[in-house]
Amino acid sequence: MALRQIREIGDEILTKPCLEVKEITPHVKELIDDMFETLYDADGVGLAAPQVGILKKIIIIDTGDDPHVLINPVILETSGEQEGTEGCLSVPGKYGIVKRPDYAKVAYYDENMEQHELEGTGLLARAICHEMDHLNGKLYVDLAKDGLHDVSELAEEGGDKS
Ligand code: NI
Repeated sequence: MALRQIREIGDEILTKPCLEVKEITPHVKELIDDMFETLYDADGVGLAAPQVGILKKIIIIDTGDDPHVLINPVILETSGEQEGTEGCLSVPGKYGIVKRPDYAKVAYYDENMEQHELEGTGLLARAICHEMDHLNGKLYVDLAKDGLHDVSELAEEGGDKS
């Protein structure tokens, strides 16, 4: 495993749509391992492959319960609404106030290319929506209603970085 460099806002790769994963190769497995190492090193909640420079539909999420690997994820359903602080490892030192659905359900493939569904509320729903946006070349900064703020202005708990 190895740490990968996290691409930051301004890097064109973060604006591009990702391609489907057709096959789980050793390279893809290594990428996923490296993404987890990179996520935990950065103390984040989620990470999408384009954030480490790979335009593939792979996201990982760990809100503190279980680590999730979502390959070729597709949103099946969202409902409700939540408004709260959101950050991104690709936008270091910043956070914004972003409205998201309070419930999200996705279909995805695992590392054996078997299909599953994942549903979540609260932080997990927010993380799913945030990471799905990365796969479409979108960043939360365009959804932040009052623009970006410095995390130093936040209370100690900070924002969730995905
Ligand atoms: Ni992000």
